[in-house]
Amino acid sequence: MRPAVVVLTGAGVSADSGVSTFRDAGGLWEEQRLEDVATPEAWARDPALVWRFYQLRRAQLAEVEPNPAHLALARLERALALAGAPFTLVSQNVDDLHARAGSSVLSMHGQLRVLACEACGRTLEDDAHLDPESFVPCSACGHPRLRPDVVWFGELPRFVDQVEVRLHEATHFLAVGTSGAVWPAAGFLGLARATGTRTFVNALEAPDNAGEVDHFLPGRAAEVIPGLVDTWIDEWGLSAHA
Ligand code: APR
Repeated sequence: MRPAVVVLTGAGVSADSGVSTFRDAGGLWEEQRLEDVATPEAWARDPALVWRFYQLRRAQLAEVEPNPAHLALARLERALALAGAPFTLVSQNVDDLHARAGSSVLSMHGQLRVLACEACGRTLEDDAHLDPESFVPCSACGHPRLRPDVVWFGELPRFVDQVEVRLHEATHFLAVGTSGAVWPAAGFLGLARATGTRTFVNALEAPDNAGEVDHFLPGRAAEVIPGLVDTWIDEWGLSAHA
């Protein structure tokens, strides 16, 4: 059997790197009301508050590193590529840890490292302007403040059609560190099951839709995912040195 793998990650895959999750105890939404900092209305109402929230998270990127879960998923991607087998990693996370681990990642909620101009549409990767009190003007059109290029509540997540095509072809679907609270990512598990894909979920506690999962893998991603990748590489006869 030639495997075809789709992996969805959420905040839990970066928790072991020290990046806050959203809905766990002490998570971001316990400290901020998401409607105050993660919606277009919040940006229009109080851009300074929203900017401070994202600038602090942008600055944190320099202090965290990919953990063994990120590295294992990049290794799996390389091993499958050597065998000519399809691999898709889609993440709800806006940190850059998958990319820094070497993965090709579809960032469906955008990326903290990218700023966007609402006036002219220009985007730029930026890790130089991190002052929470200073907006960054658009150097192309002069608009006074670039926004974080992240998908806010009420905005369209990215790459969803592409992921759904890959899910129809997938033999294995793995969700790592996501509560399954936010659509459309929350629907990927059900779509995988409906197309006969074997489903695996790793989280600290069973997700609400755990009953639909073929294999629930409890525990920290940094401890669970490397072993799962080793098992798959061995089971599929892939290169152990990818
Ligand atoms: N290893 C594995 N799983 C973990 C770990 C860990 N170390 N720590 C936490 N988890 C799991 C939790 O059990 C939970 O299922 O990660 C999940 C975190 O859930 P959320 O905080 O809701 O994060 P996520 O599912 O990514 O949120 C989805 O909601 O607020 C929006 O845009 C935001 O992308 C985010 C989306």
